[in-house]
Amino acid sequence: MNSFGYRFRITLFGESHGPLIGVVIDGIPPGLPLSQGDFVQDLNRRKSGQPGTTPRYEEDLPLIKAGLYRGKCTGAPLVILFENRDFSSKDYEPFTDIPRPGHADFTAKVKYKGYNDSRGGGMFSGRLTTALVAAGVVAKKIIAPVNVSASLLEAGGSEKIEETVRQAVEAGDSVGGLIECLADQVPAGLGNPFFDSLESLLAHAVFSIPGIKGIEFGSGFHSAEMRGSEHNDCLKDKEGHTLTNHSGGVNGGITNGNPLLFRVAVKPTPTITLPQETVNIATSRMEMLRGTGRHDACFALRVPVIVEAMTAVVLADYLLP
Ligand SMILES: Cc1cc2nc3c(=O)[nH]c(=O)nc-3n(C[C@H](O)[C@H](O)[C@H](O)COP(=O)(O)O)c2cc1C
Repeated sequence: MNSFGYRFRITLFGESHGPLIGVVIDGIPPGLPLSQGDFVQDLNRRKSGQPGTTPRYEEDLPLIKAGLYRGKCTGAPLVILFENRDFSSKDYEPFTDIPRPGHADFTAKVKYKGYNDSRGGGMFSGRLTTALVAAGVVAKKIIAPVNVSASLLEAGGSEKIEETVRQAVEAGDSVGGLIECLADQVPAGLGNPFFDSLESLLAHAVFSIPGIKGIEFGSGFHSAEMRGSEHNDCLKDKEGHTLTNHSGGVNGGITNGNPLLFRVAVKPTPTITLPQETVNIATSRMEMLRGTGRHDACFALRVPVIVEAMTAVVLADYLLP
């Protein structure tokens, strides 16, 4: 549904063009210090502004409405809201009858029987990831000294990110990207052998971010081409540190004391200004659709901090007593 986690549990709500979005976070240890200022750095990393991102500008001021008293978390659910101010819903009207290829316009309509708030992609908008980043800020405090950092390695298959994004913008098209995430100082022993393996919960969390199409741990898909003698990570001490990290820090679904390492594939933005032929579901006729409204030509630019947030949320769940 719209909640994730066991001991550290987040619940997401709101729509892109509704009055607000937000998150309820349950399981925060009482006494954890928290202020609005703690959110600034990570929220700024998700904000639009750089070339290839949407001109929609939101202030992203976290309004902490419950669970905080005199600068400390109380242990009751923490409620954080973000107001939506900069939106233009009329740009999205064509997508009611002509669902955008690659977006969730069609699936949302089917699942919610047409009652969904489709303005600006509704709940399927990247806007909601603001609340995920806020949850990540709290989770990062809980998991310290474990440190999570993610960065964009490539856009559209090229390390020349700026140039590739600029070319996509000029063409009225979009590009995706490849993100690498590393968590260090992760203690050995977190995870489970089967259903709640660390990889499966991380994949669950990361695939909850809109537009993610792949995740691979360590040498990932390349492992299929390697020999055991090449892939095996030989131990160099009794703490379990290894000479290589083809496993990405996980064996048997359990952290092995080496850095957690994974890569995430982000797809190209569905909304593009280039015309595409697709069906009008009101008339059953094929029509040319040109993406209107403001959109990111490469939303992957904004995703690293969201991947960090979801990683921290998973690790907080395991690290809380
Ligand atoms: C930060 C962020 C910003 C996004 N911006 C846009 C956008 O401007 N236009 C768009 O069509 N999709 C955008 N997306 C992607 C859609 O939200 C996503 O493709 C859509 O919900 C369909 O989900 P799926 O790609 O997981 O199938 C964005 C995603 C994120 C995480």
